[in-house]
Amino acid sequence: MLTLAEYPDPVPGPGEILIRVSATAVNRADVLQRQGRYPPPPGTTDILGLEAAGTVERLGSGVTGFAPGDRVMALLAGGGYAELVATPAGQVMHVPDALDDILAAAVPEAYLTAWQALGRTAPPQPGDRVLVHAAASGVGTAALQIARELGARCIATTRSTEKAWMLEDRAEHVVVPINGEFAEQVTALTDGRGVDRVVDLVGAAYLRESLRCLATGGHILLIGMVGGRRVDLDLGELFAKRATLTASTLRARPLEEKAALVADFAEWGLPRLADGRLRPTVHDMLPVSRVQDAHRMVEANEPLGKVVLSLTADAIQER
Ligand SMILES: NC(=O)c1ccc[n+]([C@@H]2O[C@H](COP(=O)([O-])OP(=O)(O)OC[C@H]3O[C@@H](n4cnc5c(N)ncnc54)[C@H](OP(=O)(O)O)[C@@H]3O)[C@@H](O)[C@H]2O)c1
Repeated sequence: MLTLAEYPDPVPGPGEILIRVSATAVNRADVLQRQGRYPPPPGTTDILGLEAAGTVERLGSGVTGFAPGDRVMALLAGGGYAELVATPAGQVMHVPDALDDILAAAVPEAYLTAWQALGRTAPPQPGDRVLVHAAASGVGTAALQIARELGARCIATTRSTEKAWMLEDRAEHVVVPINGEFAEQVTALTDGRGVDRVVDLVGAAYLRESLRCLATGGHILLIGMVGGRRVDLDLGELFAKRATLTASTLRARPLEEKAALVADFAEWGLPRLADGRLRPTVHDMLPVSRVQDAHRMVEANEPLGKVVLSLTADAIQER
């Protein structure tokens, strides 16, 4: 159950920035946290919200490079569904003029997660084939754009024929798994060679099929488990492909790792967000008073991209 409540204003500690939030976005993790299946890390606020856009309200001691009034977007360990949130300055990015706060709120979690996988862990070479599962999700839509910007050729999966149609101009091919199977279709689309990278937001339900259509020496980047966490896997299948499997999370990383990731993405990604080569996909924007509806949309797998919550005064007073 989600309720709107009064909390004391957060105070920025040394090295932190206090942000006046105008928009946040809903992540699958928020739904799981609400359901009690994804507790916040120790010491983190129990207010939901892993990202936010707004303006700098106040700087903690020692923060440089930002000033009160700057438009910013931030990766958060929690607390984004609130009017004010304090977060380490290393997790904050300036917002390019081309993005309003609604679009900016859709950037941090999706793009930083996808960048961690495709920009840092296993960057594809130009011309490589990248298979993105659940490609209509927030992370999936960002991964498609990042892969394309890196020169890769993308194949997207979605279980929805309607979303497949909407993804058509975002990937070279869109595959709708049949009874959870897609390897044969993907292998045929790559002339029998297979894909070099799999960005896997689904997990157990797709892992064996992903291995079947992986090119020799390919890399599976496991980011999510919406399709389950247990799989019966013959390790020989990994050896046969000389495959690499990497699992990655953002939220639990040490602050310095998050700051390095944010700095790295900001250098590569902000110019591309500024000139439109990267463009966040926002499915819908709702006032925060309709947060339950926003969660229902995500739980029902409706969105193409992100559902954003507005926290402007109007949006709060609608309760
Ligand atoms: N590791 C990290 O640091 C990190 C960070 C952010 C997100 N994530 C993970 O990344 C994934 C995407 O997050 P998001 O918030 O962007 O997600 P989202 O918008 O909620 O979308 C998830 C998508 O997964 C697909 N899906 C749901 N259940 C499925 C199932 N049983 N089998 C196959 N596909 C299924 C649906 O796509 P279709 O209906 O189109 O098939 C759904 O739209 C989630 O697993 C999330 O936990 C991980």
